[in-house]
Amino acid sequence: MKTYEIAVVHGDGIGPEVCQAAIDVLKATPVANALSFVEYPAGAGHYLKVGNAFPPETHAGCTKADAILHGAAGIPGVTYPDGTETGIEFGLQLRFQLDLYANVRPIKLRPGVTSRLRDRKTGDIDYVILRENTEGLYAARGNGVNLRDELAVDSLVVTRKGIERICRAAFELARKRNGAPGDGKRRVTCCDKANVLRTYAFFRKVFDEVGEHYPDIEKDYAYADAMTVYLLERPEHYDVIVMENMFGDIMSDLAAATVGSMGMSPSSEIGDHHGFFQAAHGSAPTIAGQNIANPYGTILSAGSMLQWLGERHNDPRLIDAADLIERSVEAAMMAPDGLTRDLGGRATTSGVTALVVKGLANGVATAAQ
Ligand code: IPM
Ligand code: MN
Repeated sequence: MKTYEIAVVHGDGIGPEVCQAAIDVLKATPVANALSFVEYPAGAGHYLKVGNAFPPETHAGCTKADAILHGAAGIPGVTYPDGTETGIEFGLQLRFQLDLYANVRPIKLRPGVTSRLRDRKTGDIDYVILRENTEGLYAARGNGVNLRDELAVDSLVVTRKGIERICRAAFELARKRNGAPGDGKRRVTCCDKANVLRTYAFFRKVFDEVGEHYPDIEKDYAYADAMTVYLLERPEHYDVIVMENMFGDIMSDLAAATVGSMGMSPSSEIGDHHGFFQAAHGSAPTIAGQNIANPYGTILSAGSMLQWLGERHNDPRLIDAADLIERSVEAAMMAPDGLTRDLGGRATTSGVTALVVKGLANGVATAAQ
């Protein structure tokens, strides 16, 4: 039986708590014996200790692992001399070094969770933000200019190859889904500022070129500023939304708030050869160590990790286990004490993790009892 090595990087703040929750859940699945976990250090705490937030052994371990699981990293104020944060070096550099070009962020209103959007119910909001993850404005990380402390420049870079592959991923994803909740149509929306900048006009042009190969899928467009309103006013219109790196970072936070909270939001960062899984939220140092952080985002990301590994290695056991995690999470959210504080409940990190684990042990059905 094939086994899979998972590189684990706990990180800072709530990172270790939510990461451990996800590992506890993975260890309660029927594929526990097929997984081995190897821990590596990274983050702001590690930077304070040794002066490096992303040591070479962590890079090597992540590169050779079958998949990478991360909590969250970063401590405000622990910065480089240029003022940028050290802790996030790991997550950011890994994207570039392992070419994890597709950042997949599902936005789904799940049962048991109340949306901040009045009248929106489970099933009304179900779309995926596909964030280009290796180019855009963030590709300038560490390479910008600060001249005499009088002038600073970061450049937004996009390439034909980069746009083509993320747009292809978006259309392929739309083919696998069931369309937008509002009208059932398969749709890919290109979110940009093509009205203002050449980089975004080019992004849209290449989006159209790629889209020609997918006549079965509706092409749709929105400027990023208007998108912040559309995601509140008519979320049911969306199925798959593709966008440049920084827009994807910003828009996915806003979107997460419409389906509960940032704590709910899973994310998968996928390239042709590697997969990196962490929730979309940060390290939330103000609530660290109190057992109140919401672990669902990281647990769901761990589920996506099994799904990705299962598809990649043609191993249906992992796909079944991924499905089991998702169902057990949804059952836990509907349980009387299944919501953490950010979702308006009073449950603890360990409490909801135990619910998910119990659901897995019982084959999900009884988790809500
Ligand atoms: C995210 C995070 C990261 C980002 C940070 C931690 C570097 O906010 O994954 O959305 O900005 O991309
Ligand atoms: Mn972000």
